[in-house]
Amino acid sequence: MSQDGLLSLRQVTVRYGAAVAAADIDMDIPDAAGGIGIIGESGSGKTTLARVLLGLRKPDSGEVTFRGRPLARLRGSSRAEFRSHVQPVFQDGNEALDPRMRVASSIVEGLSRRRASATGQGSASVAELLAEVGLDAGLARRLPHELSGGQRQRVIIARALALRPKLLVLDEPTSALDVTVQARILELLERLGADHQLGMVLITHNLAVVQRLCATAHVMFAGRIVESGPTKALLDRPKHPYTRALRDAVPRLGGNPPQPTDRPWQVPAEDGCAFRHRCPLATEVCAQQRPVLRLVGEQLSACHHAESVEPSD
Ligand SMILES: Nc1ncnc2c1ncn2[C@@H]1O[C@H](COP(=O)(O)OP(=O)(O)OP(=O)(O)O)[C@@H](O)[C@H]1O
Ligand code: SF4
Ligand SMILES: [Mg+2]
Repeated sequence: MSQDGLLSLRQVTVRYGAAVAAADIDMDIPDAAGGIGIIGESGSGKTTLARVLLGLRKPDSGEVTFRGRPLARLRGSSRAEFRSHVQPVFQDGNEALDPRMRVASSIVEGLSRRRASATGQGSASVAELLAEVGLDAGLARRLPHELSGGQRQRVIIARALALRPKLLVLDEPTSALDVTVQARILELLERLGADHQLGMVLITHNLAVVQRLCATAHVMFAGRIVESGPTKALLDRPKHPYTRALRDAVPRLGGNPPQPTDRPWQVPAEDGCAFRHRCPLATEVCAQQRPVLRLVGEQLSACHHAESVEPSD
């Protein structure tokens, strides 16, 4: 385990009844600035993974550690330290903001959690936070429905920053917004990341966003990480046919999301590769043995035929 790690997942599996939403996930998140992208089609397990990282969902098996200590056993000030250091930024909508709470109260709600925290030093005022996210102080008294989508997303970001976290876990933070507003929110995240030395786990369907904000990326399919590595290598020279398919679905990285799956999500097969029914490279071995992540080029790939995946055009 890395000495410098903020969060580590080891063999994390999450089930909903008989369905496996995430399986055998290993991931290390350093205590450092920078973006880590998580991409994959609808139902691949991205939000499930985000909830595990945020401590909102306990894995059914496997372990999550925060600075080397099991998250499940953190109590008191250690738990508060985790809660202040790892903050969610959910998509606008989905009740990310309480519709009855004024902007200032939503942000103060974030700040007041500091009182339970032994490590809340350096937290910011509402006015400071609004300025940081490019909002006029006059908006503090508004209700969420009196704001534009972009403004609401800025409030959500301001609230996440209130405790001066180390890591933001962003689940599709811009997908509800139109393209020009998306671009401004991404600029904001880029600037905040640099100014505050923030780590970001960024979940998105949009490969252009990952390419811009994340030096490393993980690709999920059917609850598993199927490819991980430096984003540029992973998109230019994918080592998994699924990454290649995602890449091909957005030929010019113009920002259109790849098509969601057209078939119901399936529990990962006990044997064989879960992608085999859609894979142009599938052979007999793919039906018999589940591929495990291994180093191929600069990245990790879970594919028996990783060496045969053609580079992107
Ligand atoms: N609370 C739940 N109860 C039952 N099944 C769930 C629940 N939450 C998620 N699932 C299932 O777990 C799988 C992974 O869901 P998850 O929300 O993590 O996917 P996702 O990658 O975030 O998808 P999207 O891109 O659509 O947001 C899906 O099959 C989903 O139906
Ligand atoms: S293991 Fe086989 S089926 Fe799975 S992605 Fe690789 S080639 Fe395709
Ligand atoms: Mg999701």
